[in-house]
Amino acid sequence: MKKIRKAVFPAAGLGTRFLPATKSQPKEMLPLVDKPMIQYVIEEAKNSGIEHIVIVTGRGKSSIEDHFDISFELEHNLESKGKLDLLQKVRSISDMITVSYVRQKEPLGLGHAILVAKDIIGNEPFAVFLGDDIVDSSVPCMKQMMMIYEEKEASVLALQKVPMSMISSYGVVKAEQISPGLHRIEDLVEKPPIEEAPTDLAIIGRYILGPEIFSILESTPKGSGGEIQLTDGLREYVKTRPIYGLEFEGRRYDTGSKIGYLEATVEFALKDQELGEQFRSYLKRLKL
Ligand code: UTP
Repeated sequence: MKKIRKAVFPAAGLGTRFLPATKSQPKEMLPLVDKPMIQYVIEEAKNSGIEHIVIVTGRGKSSIEDHFDISFELEHNLESKGKLDLLQKVRSISDMITVSYVRQKEPLGLGHAILVAKDIIGNEPFAVFLGDDIVDSSVPCMKQMMMIYEEKEASVLALQKVPMSMISSYGVVKAEQISPGLHRIEDLVEKPPIEEAPTDLAIIGRYILGPEIFSILESTPKGSGGEIQLTDGLREYVKTRPIYGLEFEGRRYDTGSKIGYLEATVEFALKDQELGEQFRSYLKRLKL
């Protein structure tokens, strides 16, 4: 069985839910406390053993490339001023992981974004990380999924139970539970109306997929929203290959929405070693 070495990080969406903040800067670069959201996810990839990440970018996303590059002037400046803690923080970002970039010329959907990474991924199983989902857990979410991949030798999706009132915002699975928290997927549906949702198990932005998904996506027609949907590709995939769904352990923040973003900001600030106490007493003083 092939090890999961590479991951795709689609970041070519328009980020309309965060306009006007995302008019001229990528959503992925918005900070949670002092780190851009994309860095949390890339750290999860690294801590799960991923060696190479392929970031799918689009127009106006060059600050993502700059962030993971070496910044000679900044490093030189920090070094000469003796700010060695900051220097170490900045250096560790460019040292973290091998990154490749590929452009999605038009935002034609998540399925299409994954397809443009095909040549760099090649003929091996790979991971997908969506920057809209940030998971805080003791064992990285992708690592938990890799354990299932190794045991079952099959694709794995991250799942989370969500309130039925929210289900229409997600890809949803029809599945049979085979052990606590582990499901064998039978079918999938993108953003179903509540009455058509087969379960309350939503797909969260972490996937382990076989390279066979590429040829399927190549012939997947446009679906919901006129976009090539990954969920539609997975519907075909599951007809010939098993897919498992894991209800992972950890707290997940939907940072693609404003409320999820605020929740993550507050909770990460409360956990921050330098800021935490001060921020907590500030919140108490607010007398909400
Ligand atoms: P979203 O549906 O959250 O889209 O895409 P978005 O454009 O980023 O945000 P909103 O909804 O307009 O606020 C889920 C993920 O897929 C990527 C996005 O960058 C995001 O990480 N994506 C989506 C692409 O890379 N290309 C696409 O064509 C669509």
